[in-house]
Amino acid sequence: MATNGSPRPGRRTAIIAGLRTPFLKSGGDFKDLSAVDLGAAVVNELVARTAIDPKEYDAVVFGQVIPSQLATLVAREVALRSQLPKTVQAWTVARACATSVQAATDAADQIALGHADTIIAGGAESLSDAPIFASRKLAQALVGASRGKGVAQKLSAFSSLKLGDVTPVPPALTEPTTGLTMGQSAERMAQQNGISREAQDALSAQSHRRAADAWASGKLAEEVMGVPVPPRYERMANRDNIVRDDTTAEALAKLPPVFDRKYGTITAGNSSPLTDGAAAVILMAEEKARALGLRPLAFIRSYGYAALDPSEQLLQGPAFAAPIALDRAGLTLADMDLVDMHEAFAAQVLSNLQWFASRSFAERIGRKAPIGEIDPSRLNVNGGSIALGHPFGATGARMLLQTAREMVRRKAGHALLTICAAGAIGAAVVLDGPES
Ligand SMILES: CC(C)(COP(=O)(O)OP(=O)(O)OC[C@H]1O[C@@H](n2cnc3c(N)ncnc32)[C@H](O)[C@@H]1OP(=O)(O)O)[C@@H](O)C(=O)NCCC(=O)NCCS
Repeated sequence: MATNGSPRPGRRTAIIAGLRTPFLKSGGDFKDLSAVDLGAAVVNELVARTAIDPKEYDAVVFGQVIPSQLATLVAREVALRSQLPKTVQAWTVARACATSVQAATDAADQIALGHADTIIAGGAESLSDAPIFASRKLAQALVGASRGKGVAQKLSAFSSLKLGDVTPVPPALTEPTTGLTMGQSAERMAQQNGISREAQDALSAQSHRRAADAWASGKLAEEVMGVPVPPRYERMANRDNIVRDDTTAEALAKLPPVFDRKYGTITAGNSSPLTDGAAAVILMAEEKARALGLRPLAFIRSYGYAALDPSEQLLQGPAFAAPIALDRAGLTLADMDLVDMHEAFAAQVLSNLQWFASRSFAERIGRKAPIGEIDPSRLNVNGGSIALGHPFGATGARMLLQTAREMVRRKAGHALLTICAAGAIGAAVVLDGPES
């Protein structure tokens, strides 16, 4: 069943450049900035840093996973707050944590079809600015009061409310079909797949070590812009503030489990944290990039999306999506010089790696052999979402940028990028290196 489009038949899409804000723990220095503020900051700076005439941009494709009700069309709001012409097309996409991968593959499709040459794709998230809702009963009472004639009728609309009905309702990180949070779902996966606490903490420590090294070596500074911190804008946020260069597996082992306090293995240290930030990449038709004399960082070779039943193992989407993208690329896991797997939780990464290597999983998805084992020295080489943070809408663009730039450094031929997402969705993209 062919359900996912591939940009391969049409024009090839080049990743020309990209940029992101620092990723900051929510409630911190970005707490007074909205996702639109963060998205506009990154798009403006990206356009300013890249010698492409703003008139060359055809579109902005952007996403946010938990949108503000005050600015629902985040892509257009970002475009309008940028130096791009007001006539530029903009549309918003959503695919949970794979949102800005969706933005990039939508853009690649438009480029493949010849509908556009140059598109900015990205995403932003402000979990500091998540919408707070009124309960259904309070909302009904407010509507009733607005319709009431006279003060007495207006007041009577509130008469049946109980204390609980007036309590503000935060957005849920809960899967509507299962009622479980992401963390509880990951906890179940750890139990079902036999993923130990030690293995989770070791992977998390490695994520911090590699991300800290990538900052220390200057790699990440080149792809992260400074953002002035409101309300006085006198100070700059220049660096991610979740990554710790002193994280060890021993320190992580001391943290208490949070989603199953008695028997659980998932802690604040082996989960991705709630994060604010934005990221964007410039995508361009290969022929246009060559005509403008631009040197691509990488190319989008293929992509695939997949889904499973959320009541099974919510965050195993990459194991289903990766073989689709690899098959469409005509390549195997062994051909990948780099693999970037979004780290929602260490338990989710380890569960996916287990299924990638599993013969019985291969049989289940109708393959003769397992997808394969991933060489740890090629996996998330500059750290992942556990250490860098995970502003939901921005993570895909962060990964595309980080992987593409590492491909240039290593003269890599191919890379695989995968993301798990709410709704039990998986996304995967195969990139070709700049020399291909
Ligand atoms: C897991 C979660 C509940 C933790 O939130 P939190 O309690 O605010 O986390 P904190 O940052 O305060 O960390 C808790 C403690 O762990 C410690 N800690 C966290 N990371 C650490 C590390 N790498 N090394 C050492 N200690 C660490 C903190 O210092 C803190 O210690 P303290 O209590 O002594 O101050 C939250 O991050 C979460 O909900 N994450 C999941 C997000 C999610 O569902 N994502 C979807 C993925 S698809």
